[in-house]
Amino acid sequence: MPGPGDGSAPGGDARPKQGAAAVAPPARQKVKAGALLRELGPGQSPALLRELHIVTRGGELNADALRKLKQINHLLRLLAPGIEGLLQKHEAPVLVDAGAGNAWLGLLVHEALLRPAGRGKVVAIERRADLVERSQTRAQHLGMTGFEAVHASVADLTPVAGAKSTLGDVHAVLALHACDRATDEAIVLGVRSGAELIAVVPCCQAEAAACLEGHAVDGTLAPMWRHPLHRRELGAHLTNVIRGLLLEAHGYRVRITELVGWEHSLKNELIVAERHQRQNGLALAQLRRLLAGLPPLPLWILGELMPTRPADESTPGASLPVGVDASGELGDAGIAAASSGG
Ligand SMILES: C[S@@+](CC[C@H](N)C(=O)[O-])C[C@H]1O[C@@H](n2cnc3c(N)ncnc32)[C@H](O)[C@@H]1O
Repeated sequence: MPGPGDGSAPGGDARPKQGAAAVAPPARQKVKAGALLRELGPGQSPALLRELHIVTRGGELNADALRKLKQINHLLRLLAPGIEGLLQKHEAPVLVDAGAGNAWLGLLVHEALLRPAGRGKVVAIERRADLVERSQTRAQHLGMTGFEAVHASVADLTPVAGAKSTLGDVHAVLALHACDRATDEAIVLGVRSGAELIAVVPCCQAEAAACLEGHAVDGTLAPMWRHPLHRRELGAHLTNVIRGLLLEAHGYRVRITELVGWEHSLKNELIVAERHQRQNGLALAQLRRLLAGLPPLPLWILGELMPTRPADESTPGASLPVGVDASGELGDAGIAAASSGG
């Protein structure tokens, strides 16, 4: 398993990357027992971290690994109530770790939440075969029978609208620093599978910036993305705004917060979505208005999740939420439906 100890990044990609990237260059450091113990979550032992190669047999870890461990443990604390709720509702909830890399997130979620319950399953989806093999072997060493690593692109396991995923029921989709479109693929997998919980910490995002580039000179808002740095930042921000509104439009309650301090990761925005209604016409109308005020943004996720207008309803499974008229505005019925949770 690449990671601390062999010079590669904890996420799995050996090349340096924007995104899960550490703020400071990785530095091997001797971990003081107290510092490591402070990072351990309930039920997490140094032995487990050694097995995952987060900590070496000699008790060392590098700065990158410590930052990643902080992020994952913080995420676990935030997600624990939602996952415990799934365990109460379902006999064997299925949790997906999308763009899993070394599957530290999936393995630690399993260890902290599913193993104590003795039920449920984590499916780690990763497109690099070597990482899939390593995390599956590691799970076997740890005796985690409820963990499965799958070699695939997330999009390949996503059902078309109205159908069921080959994964079967999916109750939660998690994605930590899944690069670029992989975060969107995780969201689409979650929405199409009817997952009750979707939580993503997006990584680098270049698609929206590329769309804005051709529109750098015209319009009142154009100075917002004239400079490449602003274009990149605004593109990533807009994408997250669109992700949030799309999730709301599909009936999720969305919270967007910081995951950990910015000193631990530059990619630190956490989007947590919990399904609580069938759809939300108000959010869809807001999204339509936002998009109407911007240059065309043909983002992949919009093509997948933006409900079509009635005139386009030849697309199977695609329709406007109840009460939204062809202009995207809500009629009285839509406002009533949205506010009543229908
Ligand atoms: C930055 S790493 C993060 C890994 C891990 N989630 C973590 O936080 O340590 C992103 C991983 O996503 C994988 N990936 C990228 N696009 C993917 C896709 N469409 N489907 C599955 N895996 C993908 C990459 O191979 C890489 O291992």
